[in-house]
Amino acid sequence: MKTEVFRVTEKSDIILRRAAELICSGSLVGIPTETVYGLGANAFDRDACLDIFKAKGRPADNPLIVHIAEPEDAEKIAYTNSLYYKLAERFMPGPLTVIMPKRDIIPDSVTAGLDTVAIRCPKNKVANQLIRLSGVPIAAPSANRSGMPSPTSASHVFKDMDGIIPMILDGGECEVGVESTVISITEDSIILLRPGQVTLEMLKEICDNVTVSSAVTEELKPGEKALSPGMKYKHYAPRADLYLVDDRYIDFVSFTKEKHRMEKCAVMCYDEEIEKYTDEILLPVGGERDIKEQTKRLFDILRRADDMGVCTIYAHLPSKDGEALAIYNRMIRACAHRILGGENG
Ligand code: TXA
Ligand code: MG
Repeated sequence: MKTEVFRVTEKSDIILRRAAELICSGSLVGIPTETVYGLGANAFDRDACLDIFKAKGRPADNPLIVHIAEPEDAEKIAYTNSLYYKLAERFMPGPLTVIMPKRDIIPDSVTAGLDTVAIRCPKNKVANQLIRLSGVPIAAPSANRSGMPSPTSASHVFKDMDGIIPMILDGGECEVGVESTVISITEDSIILLRPGQVTLEMLKEICDNVTVSSAVTEELKPGEKALSPGMKYKHYAPRADLYLVDDRYIDFVSFTKEKHRMEKCAVMCYDEEIEKYTDEILLPVGGERDIKEQTKRLFDILRRADDMGVCTIYAHLPSKDGEALAIYNRMIRACAHRILGGENG
């Protein structure tokens, strides 16, 4: 299959109509969203959704997120409640996914047999317009092959999906850079399952009863059941060994310079630190306080680290506060919990 890539805005009517026709006829389309690129199919089409699993090499028990054009469209596919609408008012359209009991119209291939469905209303104008033109909700996981970092540009999608899907819409680089915040809700409680740009602190402003699933910061214990199937899989791990350095205990620059003398390693340093290095291999992550920029660059850096063929990568251990929790969550999975410094050894 030839994979066509089109540069688009929400006004690219002819291309977006072609993409909508592909969706309606059961094909898959690579779609830009504000978080990461998605691999979209008609959420009412059982077989098209099964094709998503094939295209990604995704385990069959890991459910998909259903994307809608307006918060109210959730009524057709889920049993909503008043907390959903409070959250929608504040965060939708945007990078928040809400899990609620599903209606029968959503096929089991979308929810992997669960009786709940994950719903998200993307802010990205291309994604939003494509859902409107398609006239159906669009099921879409991140558009990477399973085990690769989520794609944040059309070229990442092309690398993973060339020859596998007919069309990729190139809407430029993703604004956020990590996947949406995933929560499961009842009438009066929230469980945070995956941290993203909508933070724990923001959710607490809307609801008094917010808990954080232990899988957000810890490894699942043997035999422990994941509330969200996606959390039980070993996520992306670079080919090189990634170590997170707790810089409250270890001087990051001198430690990594010393390491570089002994082994072929790359250093994920802050932009401010670049001038302190000489001939080391650097992967600058953004300014030390610029969490938004660090989030945006994260997956591209991890993809580039693999391309460079280094044996080891050293990075700062991220904080767990605010938006940094999303980076922390992705990084501890990528490093298999190898943390240097303090009580971590
Ligand atoms: O930002 C995003 O959320 C991107 C863009 C494309 O929208 N999508 C994305 O999808 O990251 P994916 O499939 O890579 O991650 C969805 C996560 C998985 O961890 C999955 O297990 C969880 O959401 N999930 C989906 N439906 C669920 C359900 N009914 N119950 C529990 N977890 C669910
Ligand atoms: Mg994914």
